[in-house]
Amino acid sequence: MPDQSLPPGIFIAGTDTNVGKTVVTAALGLALQQTGARVGIMKPVETGFTPDKPDSDVQRLRKFFAPYRNVDVRNVYSLPQPVAPLEAARSAQQAIDVDAILNACGIFAVHYHYMLVEGAGGILVPLTETHDVRDLIRLLGLPCLIVARTGLGSINHTRLTLMGLREAGIPILGILLNHTGITPKEQQASTVKLLRELSDAPVLGPFPFQPHLNSQWDSGVRTLANHSTIREVARMVQESN
Ligand SMILES: Nc1ncnc2c1ncn2[C@@H]1O[C@H](COP(=O)(O)OP(=O)(O)O)[C@@H](O)[C@H]1O
Ligand SMILES: [Mg+2]
Repeated sequence: MPDQSLPPGIFIAGTDTNVGKTVVTAALGLALQQTGARVGIMKPVETGFTPDKPDSDVQRLRKFFAPYRNVDVRNVYSLPQPVAPLEAARSAQQAIDVDAILNACGIFAVHYHYMLVEGAGGILVPLTETHDVRDLIRLLGLPCLIVARTGLGSINHTRLTLMGLREAGIPILGILLNHTGITPKEQQASTVKLLRELSDAPVLGPFPFQPHLNSQWDSGVRTLANHSTIREVARMVQESN
């Protein structure tokens, strides 16, 4: 259990890896800090990390927020193997300590208005032999934003994620649909339409595809921070806390 009480905020969960959690975390962090809030961003576990790789989540987020004194980006475990955290920790002869993550989040309680925590992969990804990402969300007591793709396969992934979070009694702020790639228009449209029809949580977006995001990440994220979807999520975060 954490030593300190935890600050309010949200957990940015994904239906999978590569769905846009880091992009959404960065855009949302920027939108919240623009309201004058101090924002703590936590990426508790990152795998596939090597110090010389400039595009790890933590390095990207730290570089992006370096000019903003009211945003702090923290990480607890950076593991080199690009596999699930439990296995990456074993390969590094380490064990992930969930209490250490909770305590690291507690540090934000003192000076920060909001905390954004980015998951690792999907919600049932194992962190330890006994705890997965969903357990961490529950222990943090944060409501969840689910980031999901608009492409084919996402309806199943999103509904399974909703089911898993509901089963654990985790409040769901919404599902943010993200155009992460060039998907046929009819697939995008039907994913958005059916998820709106079938989900018992607000469906937000879709977040537009930014063709130059990878080559111009910082300016791409700044553009997305002004998008109505991120403004809406920022409002929801402020109102839910
Ligand atoms: N809306 C978008 N438009 C274009 N590229 C995107 C968009 N969202 C995410 N991406 C790209 O997709 C990849 C995965 O995004 P990322 O935020 O790192 O996902 P995750 O954190 O879920 O693994 C990155 O290369 C990112 O730049
Ligand atoms: Mg990420």
